[in-house]
Amino acid sequence: AGTRGGRRPDGAREVRPEELRSHQWYGTDGLRSFSHRARTRQLGYLPEEHLGKPVIAILNTWSDINPCHVHLRDRAQAVKRGVWQAGGFPLEFPVSTLSETFQKPTPMLYRNLLAMETEELLRSYPVDGAVLMGGCDKTTPALLMGAASVDLPTVFVPAGPMLPGHWRGETLGSGTDMWKYWDERRAGTIGDCELAELESGLARSPGHCMTMGTASTLTAAAETLGVTVPGASSVPAVDSGHDRMAAASGLRIVELVRQDLRLSRLLTREAYEDAVAAVLALGGSTNAVIHLIAMAGRSGVKLTLDDFDRIARTVPVLANLRPGGKHLMEDFHFAGGMRGFLSRITDVLHLDRPTVSHATLREQLDGALVHDDDVIRERHRPLAAEGGLAVLRGNLCPDGAVVKHVAMEQRFLKHTGPAVVFDDYRTMQRTIDDPALGITADHVLVLRGAGPKGGPGMPEYGMLPIPKYLLEQGVRDMVRISDARMSGTSYGACVLHVAPESHVGGPLALVRTGDTITLDVAARSLHLHVADEELERRGAAWTPPPARYERGYGALYMEQISQADTGCDFEFLARPGTTPDPYAG
Ligand code: FES
Ligand code: MG
Repeated sequence: AGTRGGRRPDGAREVRPEELRSHQWYGTDGLRSFSHRARTRQLGYLPEEHLGKPVIAILNTWSDINPCHVHLRDRAQAVKRGVWQAGGFPLEFPVSTLSETFQKPTPMLYRNLLAMETEELLRSYPVDGAVLMGGCDKTTPALLMGAASVDLPTVFVPAGPMLPGHWRGETLGSGTDMWKYWDERRAGTIGDCELAELESGLARSPGHCMTMGTASTLTAAAETLGVTVPGASSVPAVDSGHDRMAAASGLRIVELVRQDLRLSRLLTREAYEDAVAAVLALGGSTNAVIHLIAMAGRSGVKLTLDDFDRIARTVPVLANLRPGGKHLMEDFHFAGGMRGFLSRITDVLHLDRPTVSHATLREQLDGALVHDDDVIRERHRPLAAEGGLAVLRGNLCPDGAVVKHVAMEQRFLKHTGPAVVFDDYRTMQRTIDDPALGITADHVLVLRGAGPKGGPGMPEYGMLPIPKYLLEQGVRDMVRISDARMSGTSYGACVLHVAPESHVGGPLALVRTGDTITLDVAARSLHLHVADEELERRGAAWTPPPARYERGYGALYMEQISQADTGCDFEFLARPGTTPDPYAG
């Protein structure tokens, strides 16, 4: 062994106990170490249970109010089991939960707060490696953004999808079928009794949404990035396999610390491009665009909207999952999961990347099988010939907008219509069903004031409701444009993430009811048919909205948040630079 640790037969470096970061807390000859050792005995541990062993922080987003993570309290025990078996010392840290369902105005307001908490916890405590437990929408990017900024060996444990929903012989998808049946309710085709049954049938176990919504999209991206154990992301939350996956993650993280395999070795430009390809081939959530750009930023990788559009043209949509397709995550899992899935797009992947399994992606996919060609389609039978998203440009969205064109009525792929503009969500909610507005299926619904600052937090308002009287006539899709996001389980001809947003004076702020707008997905364009001079006149008369927060986190958020096209990170978190380690610094 050399002074900086020995070489293992496979070439990886073996970290010696004195080289562990936690050694500075526990192993040095000084008052502080004496105190830390005494306090660890106070926790009930023998010295031989922890001294010299890799300290593994388990960051758990469990909470009583988060149904997507309610099983993670137990699951952390399986992670600990793995850590102990491998000779590590696990310590669980409860961190902020971001419940997509309950947190208002939107958990997106708090993604960066959880990222900050993750980063600072890992940095300020005696941590050698981290296991991150999350899955409900923003938790995955938040945890990984924070961890990437600290750059310790890290394994992500996805919460896993909930079991499929059931109602009167039908399979229900969370989110997707909630929207669908709420529209039926508004159209008067189902009553109170049916609604009560649906409330019991939609979400019948712990776990995140089991459609290819934001949660499944981001955990699949994490698996593609190589930061989960192979096959982890699709294991149903309540399957015994989820316990085994958690234990395997605990075993792995201790090895990763011994090998000093840090997150930065995994989260490369190639890895992010592969995650983008996977998300697009899955027909995944539009939210992934914002989150992957932000995550990549924390890894020092400049990922752009143009990367998404470029890669979208190289991959077909192969996952037949709701909201764009038919099946649910459990079907995907038993059809082969991400290993099976990725084995069908190997031509666009960078296969020689390392992963937390210590195998390269190529080795991980070796022998991967697909067991159901309807769920994971073959290349000659895709759901769509091109990836699920298109990036639009034009005078209405100079910095871009996105549309999930595989989940919309195809007659809207090229559409021109008159705008009906709503200044904010409440006004829209109050007035949308009023027949006096005279909205037809050909109108273009425009919502502003719903962006990163305007929302605030870019709430998932992007799937604007269709007026009730049109629903009753059988209309189920319309062109809708906003600076909001859309739930990953939503669908429809919704142009989202218009940047810059109206709150900062983007052109969206200048549209008026009656203006004509053209959406042309093939041309990747979104055009407002108003002369430049007229837009300039309207812009000169525009006044910025008053400040919403005078103090607190909201004020920090408003000051720091970036626009959708750059990932909505905080400027002071996204900027390059070093932060001193408490001991090394
Ligand atoms: Fe948590 Fe959908 S509400 S993933
Ligand atoms: Mg969601």
